[in-house]
Amino acid sequence: MTLAVNLVSAYTRVGMKQVVSFTLVLLVFLAACSPAALPPTPTAGPPTSVQTDETAVTLPVLDADEIALGETVYAANCASCHGVNLEGEVDWKIQNKDKSFRNPPHDETGHTWHHPDDQLIEAIQLGGARFEGLNIGGTSDMPAFGKILTDAEITAVISYIKNRWPDDISAIQWQMSVQSEQ
Ligand code: HEC
Repeated sequence: MTLAVNLVSAYTRVGMKQVVSFTLVLLVFLAACSPAALPPTPTAGPPTSVQTDETAVTLPVLDADEIALGETVYAANCASCHGVNLEGEVDWKIQNKDKSFRNPPHDETGHTWHHPDDQLIEAIQLGGARFEGLNIGGTSDMPAFGKILTDAEITAVISYIKNRWPDDISAIQWQMSVQSEQ
């Protein structure tokens, strides 16, 4: 996943700004993980065991130009389903009668931040096709953007979404992304 690696190194380049106590972050993470019916992912989910000592998570600073590009990409390609304000569809955790998944939010009320960067990139590149051949109990009408958007536009739209998350949520997602790259 070259794009994922680029994303991580771009983040590492921009340096340190905020340090969030990982202990606090862990508590928030455990509280936020509910067993509600969610579109599963073909690859590993959030880590089941994490360090509980005073490990600090350094949040990368997102690039302002990327966020601006991501906003344009989002408005043109994603807002119609995921909501102009990232709010998703009402009752998004309930599947439609035809078993298709509803459009989930991308803000902190959604499930997007439960995935490391490489899984988010895959979801955007492949859309619902990433579930083909997998028995996941439903279908996804999410289009594949791999041939519609450039790698830079995909990175940018992820940055735009990340910029809307509170720090504690961002820290959890960042930690997962770093671990997923190792
Ligand atoms: C036609 C409606 C539609 C459009 C347009 C759409 N999506 Fe989706 N998206 C969905 C649905 C439905 C799901 C839930 C099922 C799934 O994960 O594929 C989803 C899931 C996702 C997920 C995975 C979330 C998770 O927690 O697993 C990401 C990331 C995502 N979309 C990003 C985007 C981005 C970025 C765009 C614009 C470039 C976009 N989507 C455009 C319908 C859409």
